[in-house]
Amino acid sequence: MSRTTADLGFAQLKNPLMPASGCFGWGREFSQLFDLKTLGAVVTKAVTPEPRAGNPGPRVAETPAGMLNAIGLQNSGLTGALTEELPWLQKQEVPILVNVAGRTEDDYVKVAEALAHHDILGLELNLSCPNVKEGGITFGTDANNVYRLVSRVREVCPLPLVVKLTPNITDITEPALAAEAGGASALTLINTLRGMAIDIRTRRPLLGNVTGGLSGPAIKPVALCLVWQAVKAVSIPIIGCGGIARVEDVLEFLLAGASAVQVGSAAFTDPLLLPRLAAELEKWLEQENTSVRELVGAAHPQGGNHD
Ligand SMILES: Cc1cc2nc3c(=O)[nH]c(=O)nc-3n(C[C@H](O)[C@H](O)[C@H](O)COP(=O)(O)O)c2cc1C
Repeated sequence: MSRTTADLGFAQLKNPLMPASGCFGWGREFSQLFDLKTLGAVVTKAVTPEPRAGNPGPRVAETPAGMLNAIGLQNSGLTGALTEELPWLQKQEVPILVNVAGRTEDDYVKVAEALAHHDILGLELNLSCPNVKEGGITFGTDANNVYRLVSRVREVCPLPLVVKLTPNITDITEPALAAEAGGASALTLINTLRGMAIDIRTRRPLLGNVTGGLSGPAIKPVALCLVWQAVKAVSIPIIGCGGIARVEDVLEFLLAGASAVQVGSAAFTDPLLLPRLAAELEKWLEQENTSVRELVGAAHPQGGNHD
């Protein structure tokens, strides 16, 4: 075990850094720039049962200190993931979390069942998708739905389940506790915050989908706060995500109680950011003569709740 080792309970990673889903594809392009083995893990783009073309454009917009996206979970479906993407990524010898999305509970169950016996670290269930059977209500905003969905996936899949929650909710501890009760091995907090922009020339919403998800440095204080609150409520590890762009951000999330972190939007403007953060983190830990595990939750009055 080294200073940088991150403990997710179900696995120990060489460092706490991983890309956020949808901001790294399956890593092919990034692998031309750096060795993926420098990362703690890779989180893939969402996989849905059928291929998805995604939303009409424009799909992204710049905002002060962030961006809006409404990609619409474009992906090549389960068949594309299993025949092309996953076999390639498995050869890179880095732990893999496959992000799973769907329109119905059955969609998640289907993808989880198909991946259940593959050589991967685990699944990350993206619960920020609209549930078409319940009038488009986001899965993650209803604790009963969260519990049912996670329990159903748990029944068909022995792999570690990381449940990624939406911040578009009043009290994060409700879905966090429901996910834990349903059998989640860890949580990822947070997905994007709902937002929109209007084109004043056309006088119409700027994104083809009208609304989108806000990400980037603008959402970091929100993400940090939700990690802080969830850490106090649950006893499973939490992966922090939202606006991380500097090593100081990584340290803040660890101190708030995150056991590992994901970097999303910031990797678009700086594709070499993740390996640089890994190196900077190692250097900082050495200088301070401390370790990732010592920092996790240390900002809480009682020093976190994982002891
Ligand atoms: C272009 C784009 C695509 C995304 N696609 C996914 C996805 O497929 N599944 C998912 O769970 N989250 C997805 N996200 C959300 C990110 O994984 C992350 O939770 C969010 O962007 C906050 O992190 P950041 O501020 O570091 O970008 C996407 C975000 C962006 C910007």
